[in-house]
Amino acid sequence: MSKHKLLKGFSKLSRDEKINQLLTHLNGSKTLETNLKSYLHVSNQALFDDISENTVSNYYLPFSLAPNFLINNKLHILPMVIEESSVVAAASKAASFWALNGGFKTQVINTFKNGQLFFTWIGDLNKLINQQVELEALLRKSCADITQNMVKRGGGIKSFTLSTVDNMPTTHQLLVTFETADSMGANFINTCLEQMTPVLIDYINSREALTQKGKANSVMAILSNYTPDCLVECSVECPIVALAPYAGVYTPQVFANRFATAVNIAINNTHRAVTHNKGIFNGIDALVLATGNDFRAIEAGAQAYAARDGQYRSLTSISLVNNTFKYTLQVPLALGTVGGLTNSHPLAKAALEILQNPTANELMQIVAAAGMANNFSAVASLVTTGIQKGHMKLHLSNILTSLNASETEKTLAVNHFSDKMVSFSTVQAFVNTLRVV
Ligand code: MEV
Repeated sequence: MSKHKLLKGFSKLSRDEKINQLLTHLNGSKTLETNLKSYLHVSNQALFDDISENTVSNYYLPFSLAPNFLINNKLHILPMVIEESSVVAAASKAASFWALNGGFKTQVINTFKNGQLFFTWIGDLNKLINQQVELEALLRKSCADITQNMVKRGGGIKSFTLSTVDNMPTTHQLLVTFETADSMGANFINTCLEQMTPVLIDYINSREALTQKGKANSVMAILSNYTPDCLVECSVECPIVALAPYAGVYTPQVFANRFATAVNIAINNTHRAVTHNKGIFNGIDALVLATGNDFRAIEAGAQAYAARDGQYRSLTSISLVNNTFKYTLQVPLALGTVGGLTNSHPLAKAALEILQNPTANELMQIVAAAGMANNFSAVASLVTTGIQKGHMKLHLSNILTSLNASETEKTLAVNHFSDKMVSFSTVQAFVNTLRVV
């Protein structure tokens, strides 16, 4: 028996009943109730209720546009959903700069995704591997009904690899590699794996030569969010002299050297690499979220990729050769443009429409360009003015909005804080002085 008072049957309650229970439970304020209720959608709430469970309100984030992204000679306007001020401004600024300097050059390196089927078995895995051709045929047949459609769309099952899990001699993995066309493929992969599981286990257990030491048992089957072979590359390149608009007080060459040092620090120093890559994900996540893709999957896969050689490193690399600045990002991005939220959320659909309904391959390239743009802006600021200058402008604007400042108050505050430290208390004190008069 729990000594805590648990909420029973919560999911069965209506929205109002849930909110009432919450308020009773917390002794919550009227403001909490008003806030929750005022962000319900006036005409289409059922759609959002269907996306999750126990929904009592909607959580709004700004849906912004970053124009002027020239990617492989095609101009794009990027939809970005993000809570951090300055990300969209930084992306737009870098996009405009690179549009005048050759744009972002992107290419998809490969698009394989993996699923894992784990089983325990005290047996000689090589014996099973020797029979892999026969086993594979059976495994493919077991999910032919699902793969048929995927094959028509250019996807399907690519390969099977049997191995033993490190440090676990009686636990084995069947790694299945898939192509999932324009879908992210989670449902497709998981369904295939679950259909294959009994076939694999029966295959082993029905053969005397394979069960001399014992029977096989399945453990689990699930796609892997580690997608090192679903990789996209984005690079920007210009003569070093063309970097003048970003160089601040430095010459373009000194700026380029400082930029390269910053990137090399991020390649070699994990504390810095994490922050550096976070700047890349400012752009990536904003698009992943806008297009209704699974940002947790993208983050988990790409962060693991950043540590693929055993040390977490920058996802970008740099070269300064022949007076040319070349900056490259490689990142795994298992994205979809069909299925899941991409089909059901009106704003995810809007985002895809703004991107001119890309294929999954095209979306990978656009998203990589967004990551590159944000990271380029961040590193350029860091090695010149520092990041706070730009941040503070937006920080001030956010504080003024939260204080319900009038347009006149805003103008006076922007002037006043042009050469002063911005903090909530200093801005509040300043606005209060204006209001006293
Ligand atoms: C802030 O959201 C992102 C940065 O910290 C990235 C970086 O340090 O490169 C500015």
